[in-house]
Amino acid sequence: MKNYIKHDEWKIIEEGFHREENRITESLLSIGNGRSGQRANFEEKYSGDSLQGSYVAGVYYPDKTRVGWWKNGYPEYFAKILNATNWIGINISFDGEELDLSKAEILTFYRDLDMKSGLLSRSFVAKLSSGKEVEVKSKRFLSIADQEIGAIRYTVKALNFSGKITATPYIDGNVVNEDSNYDENFWIEKATQINGSVGFVYMETKKTAFQVCTGMSFRACLNGTRIEPQLSSDQKEKYISSEFTVEVKNGDELCIEKYAAIISTLYYPETKLQNATEKALKRASEKGFDKLFADQEKAWAKRWETSDIRIEGDVAAQQGIRFNIFQLNQTYLGDDERLNIGPKGFTGEKYGGVTYWDTEAYCLPFELGTSPQMVSKNLLLYRYKHLPKAIENAEKLGFTDGAALYPMVTINGEECHNEWEITFEEIHRNGAIAYAIYNYINYTGDQDYLAPYGFEVLLALSRFWSQRINWSEEKKKFVLLGVTGPNEYENNVNNNFHTSYMAVWTLKYTLKAIDYLKREHPLLYEDLVKKLKLKELKETSRWKKIIKDMYFPYDFGRKIYLQQDGFLDKELIPVSQLKPEDRPINQKWSWDRILRSPYIKQADTLQSIFWFEDEFDKESIERHFDFYEPLTVHESSLSSCIHAILAASIGRQEKAYEMYLRTARLDLDDYNNDTCDGLHITSMGGTWMAFVQGFGGMRVRNGQLNFTPFIPEGWNSYSFRLNFREAHLEFKMDKKQFSVYNHSKVNMDLVVHGQQYHLPARKELTIK
Ligand code: BGC
Repeated sequence: MKNYIKHDEWKIIEEGFHREENRITESLLSIGNGRSGQRANFEEKYSGDSLQGSYVAGVYYPDKTRVGWWKNGYPEYFAKILNATNWIGINISFDGEELDLSKAEILTFYRDLDMKSGLLSRSFVAKLSSGKEVEVKSKRFLSIADQEIGAIRYTVKALNFSGKITATPYIDGNVVNEDSNYDENFWIEKATQINGSVGFVYMETKKTAFQVCTGMSFRACLNGTRIEPQLSSDQKEKYISSEFTVEVKNGDELCIEKYAAIISTLYYPETKLQNATEKALKRASEKGFDKLFADQEKAWAKRWETSDIRIEGDVAAQQGIRFNIFQLNQTYLGDDERLNIGPKGFTGEKYGGVTYWDTEAYCLPFELGTSPQMVSKNLLLYRYKHLPKAIENAEKLGFTDGAALYPMVTINGEECHNEWEITFEEIHRNGAIAYAIYNYINYTGDQDYLAPYGFEVLLALSRFWSQRINWSEEKKKFVLLGVTGPNEYENNVNNNFHTSYMAVWTLKYTLKAIDYLKREHPLLYEDLVKKLKLKELKETSRWKKIIKDMYFPYDFGRKIYLQQDGFLDKELIPVSQLKPEDRPINQKWSWDRILRSPYIKQADTLQSIFWFEDEFDKESIERHFDFYEPLTVHESSLSSCIHAILAASIGRQEKAYEMYLRTARLDLDDYNNDTCDGLHITSMGGTWMAFVQGFGGMRVRNGQLNFTPFIPEGWNSYSFRLNFREAHLEFKMDKKQFSVYNHSKVNMDLVVHGQQYHLPARKELTIK
């Protein structure tokens, strides 16, 4: 754990340069706007340790994989979101002496990320080897109001000398991914151009042929007055720059405003790309930094209006939740169903920047609660559009007749993962995708999503489960063999409770969907039957048999479901008895030791108990929680949020708070010692759930919002907002009361602590 980030309600602050932690700070202070994003790298040259990263949404490269023992069905490649052209660069030198914070003496240093407006700021005073002292201030943002634009204001002040300052704003496409498998260069140059202060680097990805045009323009001021210095441009492979030198006197301040346009062929045809880049640059420089920033502030204020959570009385918790919401909001804006939410978003290379079950299981609830309905629908449509590929993927593994296995990791619908115990066996992801359809419909009431989209997916998933499950003559039950549950510290087990539960639930839900469609949309249903070649009687009668006779491992003594067959053979020593030097076990232990141990990486049995809570009584939830929580090491970022919600639902408020802090400050405090690689963006959706579903106790039952709120001990109050169907509601909880303000024009019915309430439009409800 680290604790050098200052606690503040709206800002993420680093005071003094923590050189050793630079990669962590670069991750934490990342900025993005849904279309592109980047780590908090310095504008000027820095020769110290840094992970350089600028990423463009949807632009990937199929990096050839390294595999020891090739298995049928493995993918040929691992899709990676690429480190893309660097647009932030402004090199600075003083009388020929380069500014490089790795070499200079740093007298003061400060950086912060203002989450209210997505503004990254940095200021420092440095002493160069020549003895020259300089002050630098920089501000930078990626506009969410105009997603093609980024802007920087960079000022340099001579503190104790007169002389020449040379500034070199540049754009550089000579970038690599640190994690490329064969040290390959993923980009080729299409064109470069520099004309005065305006130029671009136009690149294309190898193999996938995405094109990205990155342009810059800049202007300079000396002591607040615009200057037109002599520019000297340079053009090299994948690189352009435009350099100028000004004479300064002691105390003079040079300011450079640099605008960038980052445009890809995802949004323009090839023939229009360059023109679009020029237009965006023109727009940016006509508006100028201040006006662009005013638009940015306005756009962020709007985003915060529906998604902010306020906590009074606990700055660390406040900073934590805002950080999670901010990062989610700048990663995914939800206006493009081709995009998704990668586990690292735009903050690092790990996980390849592609889609996992995380989106459906952890991010969708956040979008449902805080964004317009279309945003969640787009997340579902992403998978709908990938259905043909999921069917192909299942076919490769021997499944037939329209059965689908969605990939464990994907960017375009094709599987990218190649560890057999995960690729072929961590199939609970199919369950999460089915559950997301249910979750979306349950929350929004948009039942008609089933036709044409939802049902096609559900049917293909049910067909998969129906073929993947087999009858055991020995047990006289249906079984699900050779799987890996969410707890990846167990591989290739039989009858993982969570996976089997998801399978059976999907079959039941698909049957319900059939009933609904037959009743409400008989003609549409007939069309679907034809299109999907559904043999209703034959197919559903097998599903019904499975539903009736599925085997779930159960311990009659403890009255709990077991994570998998044989779980009780393990030495059940609780995590609390592990030596601190053994943690995290995934960095300290051999893999076979982990597999033999009882330790659980992340919510597994508890994941289904959380999703299907209403199918278990409170005592049963308690028994499962008390058995599994002491064995859980939470070494996945996706774990503690689920434990927080379950702890809250059984009244373990302290535990809920402990688990909540862990998820909310996971990256800020670097709990898992891996923030240097990038942030855990998808688990941030889990943090939001831990708050709203944990502390707020929010659930949707029978089309109504239900709450069982409580307030953690040290807090004075908290508030959050929800979009729910046509309504927009604001909830506030303090030590004395829970109140709900209905900001919308529609009346609402809701349930608080089991009691039904009516809340008219524009009125407040207060419950003591
Ligand atoms: C977790 C998976 C998750 C992946 C990406 C892994 O460590 O075990 O459940 O999908 O990270 O976040």
